[in-house]
Amino acid sequence: ERKCQLSGLWRNEQDSLMEISAVRDNGDFQGKYLTRVTLTGGCAHTSPLKGAQQQPTDGVWPTFAFTVRWDKFSNATTAFTGQCFVDSGGKETLTTMWLLREAVGSLEEDWKATRVGRNVFTRKRTPKG
Ligand code: BTN
Repeated sequence: ERKCQLSGLWRNEQDSLMEISAVRDNGDFQGKYLTRVTLTGGCAHTSPLKGAQQQPTDGVWPTFAFTVRWDKFSNATTAFTGQCFVDSGGKETLTTMWLLREAVGSLEEDWKATRVGRNVFTRKRTPKG
């Protein structure tokens, strides 16, 4: 059973997509993120993500964290932390909260540089195997 395996393709309620490739034995994982929304309203590019997942323990839904470096179109960085859940029908849900840090030009502007929010991801496609 591939329950609460982070690998695969996920979509959140903002219609952003993320693809997580194989999770290593130590819990480290990498992937790609395509956001549907941007701070500027401009075009987004696929951006690299890196994270770590807790080792699955019986009876505990695993927690995880990952960062997205918004390559090529933004100087911002986002850190997500969350947990994977499986409902009685086998449907997996990732609930996350994120901090989005944008680059500002001076220390005086630091106060307004970080946004916080919540995203919920569901699986778009089950990986083979
Ligand atoms: C930028 O616009 O400078 C970077 C993209 C930020 C996208 C944010 S990250 C949190 C939230 N969840 C998403 O899927 N997209 C937005």
